[in-house]
Amino acid sequence: MQVLGVVAVILAVVNAKVYFREEFVDGDEWRSRWVNSKHKSDYGEWKLTAGNFYGDAENDKGLQTSQDARFYAASARFEPFSNEGKSLVVQFTVKHEQKIDCGGGYVKVFPADLEQTDMHGDSTYYIMFGPDICGYSTKKVHVIFNYKGKNHLIKKEVKCKDDELTHLYTLILNPDQTYEVKIDNEKVESGSLEEDWDFLPPKKIKDPEAKKPEDWDDRAKIDDPEDAMPEDWEKPENIPDPDAKKPEDWDEDMDGEWEPPMIPNPEYKGEWKPKQIDNPDYKGAWVHPEIDNPEYSADSNIYKFDNIGVLGLDLWQVKSGTIFDNFLISDDVKEAEDIGNETWGVTKEPERKMKQEQDDLKQKEEQEKNKEQDTEAEADDDENEDVKEEEDMKDELEEALSEMEDEEAKLKDEL
Ligand SMILES: *[C@@H]1O[C@H](CO)[C@@H](O)[C@H](O)[C@H]1NC(C)=O
Repeated sequence: MQVLGVVAVILAVVNAKVYFREEFVDGDEWRSRWVNSKHKSDYGEWKLTAGNFYGDAENDKGLQTSQDARFYAASARFEPFSNEGKSLVVQFTVKHEQKIDCGGGYVKVFPADLEQTDMHGDSTYYIMFGPDICGYSTKKVHVIFNYKGKNHLIKKEVKCKDDELTHLYTLILNPDQTYEVKIDNEKVESGSLEEDWDFLPPKKIKDPEAKKPEDWDDRAKIDDPEDAMPEDWEKPENIPDPDAKKPEDWDEDMDGEWEPPMIPNPEYKGEWKPKQIDNPDYKGAWVHPEIDNPEYSADSNIYKFDNIGVLGLDLWQVKSGTIFDNFLISDDVKEAEDIGNETWGVTKEPERKMKQEQDDLKQKEEQEKNKEQDTEAEADDDENEDVKEEEDMKDELEEALSEMEDEEAKLKDEL
């Protein structure tokens, strides 16, 4: 019994396949595995670092964007595979420790024939997955699949994390055409490819041959034919004021004939309208009959990508500082969860603690500084500083806004 159990475990482990795993734990060696695109000449530089706060100084080292307002484009290759008949798991961690204002935090999974040195926004990819933040309005997880040459966005809104801590993002794609998105090893969205994306034309369409019959009566209520306007209904809207008197000094020769001013008639009842009754011929709203869409044909291979071979970071950031780490592409959902627990799961708590300590310290320092300023600083100085600060902030904001527009245009092109 026990022996059998052990054999089963070993088989399960052997069966599970990790296609790609990158945790940046061997110093500068990552440079031999990651290729920077040369499509543009001014891509931002990647830095290997665990950042300002972390759970483990070595294990938490990852690739950090290090220059503001830049495009970033780097990718790593692995042995090509097809996910036919198997689950596909794409997983990684993102830490926006810089309080990101606008920028991508997603990965792209490419076919093996990608020219890595020429990777750019329009390079064909299979999957785009991960968080994207821009201002207050865009804080979502992209799940984009390429199907027959076209990129399709998920129709559901999946919210991403927008704090400064490290988060684990996982996409699971199953051969039964279901999917799951997890953040920090917890399911945040799931469903079926066919329902949550517009890969295929609709199954049913309105019958183009069907028309509403001419005599279809869709009036629920009609005028009561029995109802008639009462004889005393019609009264003028305005009448001459019965209380008005011709002024005594009115001169008919000079002023013309005197007429009393008009006032609203208290007996006026407005326009008469017949009573409404239920229409005995009412047939209800006409419903356009539907037929099977001749354009539709089921496809049980939407999930399938034949030649997966490159994982890439192709993104743009206003304020740099995002750290990517713990990349994993695997066919084993359980093992991916395990690996997530062993990496992100182990360091998240100490990371949170370290950040909390730093925040507390900063707050204390600021309080002390404020105290000093209150007693020493002259009002003049403060004013000048405020004006300068305001100007700096304005410049920064304007720059960020114009870049946000560029990025949006780029994304739109891409899609
Ligand atoms: C990962 O950690 C969570 C929380 O501790 C736990 O519920 C889950 O079972 C773990 N997953 C695996 C595969 O061990």
